Amino acid sequence: MKIAIILGTRPEIIKMSPVIRECERRGFEYYILHTGQHYSYEMDRIFFDQLQLPAAKYNLDVGSGYHGAQTGKMLAGIEQILMEDTPDVVLVQGDTNTVLAGALAAAKLHIKVGHVEAGLRSFDRTMPEEINRIMADHISDYLFAPTATSKQHLLAEGIPQEKIFVTGNTVVDAVYQHLEISKHTASPLKDMELQEKGYFLTTVHRAENTDSKTRLSAILDGFGQVCAECSLPILFPAHPRTVKMIHEFNLSIPESVRIIDPVGYLEFLQLESGARLILTDSGGLQEEACILSVPCVTLRDNTERPETVDVGANIISGKNIIAGVRQMMQAGNGWKNPYGEGDAGKIMIDELIANV
Ligand code: UD1
Ligand code: UDP
Repeated sequence: MKIAIILGTRPEIIKMSPVIRECERRGFEYYILHTGQHYSYEMDRIFFDQLQLPAAKYNLDVGSGYHGAQTGKMLAGIEQILMEDTPDVVLVQGDTNTVLAGALAAAKLHIKVGHVEAGLRSFDRTMPEEINRIMADHISDYLFAPTATSKQHLLAEGIPQEKIFVTGNTVVDAVYQHLEISKHTASPLKDMELQEKGYFLTTVHRAENTDSKTRLSAILDGFGQVCAECSLPILFPAHPRTVKMIHEFNLSIPESVRIIDPVGYLEFLQLESGARLILTDSGGLQEEACILSVPCVTLRDNTERPETVDVGANIISGKNIIAGVRQMMQAGNGWKNPYGEGDAGKIMIDELIANV
């Protein structure tokens, strides 16, 4: 069996890393096709270096752009490669434009598609990610749903039971595989003079938060309020999209918010573990906070990760950030991670061997 792993952004590299390792371990024929959706060193290359992943065989260098142009370039580039270097199965992960392009190109060429992290739903079709994940799920042959809830979403949309495999989420594998290593190789708290549980960690990059001046400005104001009330600073490794929009809207950063460039995964795991609370609109961070036993406040109006809310690890704050923080400061951290035991990558490859 020959596998093509298609990826293009920071979270896809991190969450595909356990699958890539499993392919390596079993000596499979496989290759990585990188669309180049993310390309800055700290959004891309750093993860290949730190996670010691093999280089992509192909990189389309598609870069940034409007959805149609970006997805269209990927679609054409992926199609060309899949026709020349034909795999038995294509794997895509998550809900980015890379996922949509990869799944669509493969399905039209009658190549089997496996969707890693299938069945997540925010039920908010204004989000580009919701469109991407629905489309990818409906043209995939193997749907690797992380939880029973995601499986239910797929069944409710008429996807046949025999295509769905509940595997856990590879985010758990990635955290478990790298947390110990990170303890010995990264010391960001010491380097940044932060005290264990003496700071909040935040990331913001979702279109609905960054592309509206009112919304982004309200989030920054909310951060100022949180710092003042809790007497703790906020560390903010900022996505390039967010930095660009803060400059474009000419917004000022509250004094107690420390904005830095994005950091590597090993540093970031340490920063997450050490945080008193995580405030984020990231999908991966909601999961990782839950796995690392750190309470989370989600800076959105909905989530496609309701499992984290159900176990008491996460709250959806909407605009009322301070209320979310007040509640989660009392939350404790005794919940059980709902995303599996850290063997999702292995389960997926077993299912592919049995079914392709
Ligand atoms: C994309 C995904 C989002 C995912 C996120 C992970 C889509 C529609 N969105 O959002 O689901 O959560 O990746 O981080 O696929 N930029 C750089 N360097 C880079 C990449 C981006 O400077 O390496 C800047 C550019 O100004 C670009 C902007 O960030 O225009 C947005 O990048 P894009 O890939 O379009 O979307 P993300 O916000 O990264
Ligand atoms: N991450 C990182 N460095 C950072 C910020 C995030 O390594 O400075 C990692 C984080 O641990 C998680 C992933 O990036 O695994 C989340 O990516 P992002 O928030 O960009 O995307 P999403 O998960 O929302 O799709």
